[in-house]
Amino acid sequence: MSDSLSIIRPDDWHLHLRDGPALRAVVADSARQFARAVVMPNLKPPVTTVALALAYRDRIRAALVDAGVATGTFAPLMTLYLTDNTRADEIDRAHESGAVVAVKLYPAGATTNSDAGVTDLLGKCGSVIERMQRVGMPLLIHGEVADPAVDVFDREAVFIERVMKPLRNAYPELRVVFEHLTTKDGVEYVRDAQGPVAATITAQHLLYNRNAIFQGGVRPHWYCLPILKREVHRQALVEAATGDSPRFFLGTDSAPHARGLKEHACGCAGCYTALHAMELYATAFDRAGRLDRLEAFASLRGPDFYRLPRNTARVTLRRETYVIAQEVPYGDDTLVPLAAGESLDWRLV
Ligand code: NCD
Ligand code: ZN
Repeated sequence: MSDSLSIIRPDDWHLHLRDGPALRAVVADSARQFARAVVMPNLKPPVTTVALALAYRDRIRAALVDAGVATGTFAPLMTLYLTDNTRADEIDRAHESGAVVAVKLYPAGATTNSDAGVTDLLGKCGSVIERMQRVGMPLLIHGEVADPAVDVFDREAVFIERVMKPLRNAYPELRVVFEHLTTKDGVEYVRDAQGPVAATITAQHLLYNRNAIFQGGVRPHWYCLPILKREVHRQALVEAATGDSPRFFLGTDSAPHARGLKEHACGCAGCYTALHAMELYATAFDRAGRLDRLEAFASLRGPDFYRLPRNTARVTLRRETYVIAQEVPYGDDTLVPLAAGESLDWRLV
């Protein structure tokens, strides 16, 4: 049993960096863990155009400088927020920008800051999807229906039938990433589907099942969307992440919310994992006896799907006890990392 693991520097293919003081508080955590990150566009107002994405990238770069991150060590890869009103020529601009790597679909009302999201994908966004398919721009999908009649634990499985399959039947060459996959149904769909489909998997969905939300009382820091599922789903996700398919890769979905908004009568969805992402993933892979697959999952399959060069620098993880901070500063507020105060078995050095 080796106590040290050297892998190519990983990337985070799904990250919420926020804006303003929150951005300045968290950006160095991701830069310490990852070389690149796909930055989600669910700001208020959302990042719906290339011009807004470029301005957001400038603010991220300025925040990196303020946080003392050495130039060139962390690259934000930008995304556009798809709305009912997105136009096909915006896709051309995105494709030509060299800065925007993908478009994000939030079904309206599905999660944090998704009010401007899509109400009827095939009905309203056909010409945009058609253009994305033509230029090869990936569509990143929050794969849950927002229908209040559907049980919150079933929203991913229902999405596959109601939206994913019709979408991919209509646009079979569209490059799709099923974001933050949480179910066995999702794993089977992505593993077996025809065409260019992949999925990101978070650390929390590899490490925990839904019992974590209710252990000894309500635990708001384990609440994210899509919500943690039953153990059988966690096991399917671990199998996918540690298996042979190149379609499953790392996306933390690190989603910071101030402590007070998590520990609240109507707490926000999102787990803060950027601080200790690789420690969490390494612990999950180690528990599955598949540390040998961590590099493929964290560092190789993502760039291959996105058709970007793999990183060349390497990082080292060491088997040693890592105690997760109780809280970290977040502008004038504080942020509680996932599993605060608990210990992990690996440390990124
Ligand atoms: C994300 C957020 O807070 O922006 N929350 C979450 O629970 N994952 C939004 C999202 O990715 O659904
Ligand atoms: Zn997210």
